[in-house]
Amino acid sequence: MTLTTKSVARVALVSTLVAAAAGAAVLVASPASGAASTLAAAAQQSGRYFGTAVAANKLSDSTYVGILNREFDMVTAENEMKMDATEPNQGQFSYGNADRIVNQARSQGKRVRGHALAWHSQQPGWMQRMEGSALRQAMLNHVTQVASYYRGKIYAWDVVNEAFADGSSGGRRDSNLQRTGNDWIEAAFRAARAADPGAKLCYNDYNTDNWSHAKTQGVYRMVQDFKSRGVPIDCVGFQAHFNSGNPVPSNYHTTLQNFANLGVDVQITELDIEGSGSSQAEQFKGVTQACLAVARCTGITVWGIRDSDSWRASGTPLLFDRNGNKKAAYNAVLDALNAGGTTTVPTTPTDPTTDPQNPESCTATYSEGEKWSDRFNGQVTVSGTDNWVVTVTVGSPQRIIATWNTSPTWETANVMTARPNGNGNTFGFTIQHGGNWNWPSISCRVA
Ligand code: G3I
Repeated sequence: MTLTTKSVARVALVSTLVAAAAGAAVLVASPASGAASTLAAAAQQSGRYFGTAVAANKLSDSTYVGILNREFDMVTAENEMKMDATEPNQGQFSYGNADRIVNQARSQGKRVRGHALAWHSQQPGWMQRMEGSALRQAMLNHVTQVASYYRGKIYAWDVVNEAFADGSSGGRRDSNLQRTGNDWIEAAFRAARAADPGAKLCYNDYNTDNWSHAKTQGVYRMVQDFKSRGVPIDCVGFQAHFNSGNPVPSNYHTTLQNFANLGVDVQITELDIEGSGSSQAEQFKGVTQACLAVARCTGITVWGIRDSDSWRASGTPLLFDRNGNKKAAYNAVLDALNAGGTTTVPTTPTDPTTDPQNPESCTATYSEGEKWSDRFNGQVTVSGTDNWVVTVTVGSPQRIIATWNTSPTWETANVMTARPNGNGNTFGFTIQHGGNWNWPSISCRVA
């Protein structure tokens, strides 16, 4: 391998940074290398993965499995880990098809992206009929159960999928989950972190590719807010479903870089581009290059293998034709990957105690305590700092009627500020619920 003088200098700088900053992705020049002959091998040259969505019912198709095993090193279950598949009846979990995909992938040394723990769509019937605190509890239980079942086997979870509205509002999508309270997303992330601390936790959405779109801005503001308040988020997934009406935007790289600058990894999670020939190939190349240019863009997943496997097969949006032959788009992606880009250094889910961009930040995790007919106990454990300020907000008509291990002050009757009082980093309280069983919303900052 040949390194230019400039490259050597940058690599040396990066080694120092890496040593000092475990958990951060950093920018290095990619070494020149020989051309790799598969998507996964080509992506690995710059520390990235190249994945695909997989359907369990295609694992008996030898052409399909042959391409899967040869070309990809990351796998997403196309439908089998969704809420309707994994919890068809409340409290009754079903992992058969998801396990077939996970086991096949892992037996071939591939990693798995989990998709998706909480989503307004693909809910089982029993959940579609729920609202309010019962739904909130059911959703959190689902997140906890599924993420716990797969603990240690998932590289990254799409914890929440598609929660923002299309159009010009930049706000949340209306859904039964959204109606449980605006904090449903952060509650899902906290539950996922508690269940599988080793998995990266992603927010995943579509139509968030164009930096100037209101939806992109809305998601950006949420991630910025989560990072500032210590909500455990590690990555943002850009689905990237493109066609002539929704082409790859010219500012795509800007979007990925701006999100990465918030201190999260970015991933292209469901890439497909309708079209054919050189025009389709050029767009795939552009998306690949945009990811390669962003150090924290850790990988690309295409949403299926052959055109005929796609959820929109008539648009021939994938890298292999229906017979499993490589298309021009395949060669464009492979060449772009082989041309190299910035190297991405693997990160682990951010430990606030070692995050160099935020040397002292905090994470507050809520857990349920005892329940009585008129009140319930809750407990908050803070990590990342001993110097915390936690805000606990209860909904109407709830009231906090007792606390322990903290000496609180009150901003309003519903908003309590808790600080350490010499009894460690776990404190608790009793909420008189008045019929509202919702969990309080919790946020944490360093004092
Ligand atoms: O398996 C049943 C089959 O038994 C039945 O006969 C048939 C008739 O309706 O349906 C089959 O299930 C379908 C399933 O795909 C498997 O093919 C569902 O109806 C269909 O709704 C489902 O569509 C999936 C869609 O998500 C559901 O939301 C697509 O395969 C899947 O590619 C698509 O993936 C989504 C991502 O999760 C999120 N982002 C957008 C993306 C594309 O829509």
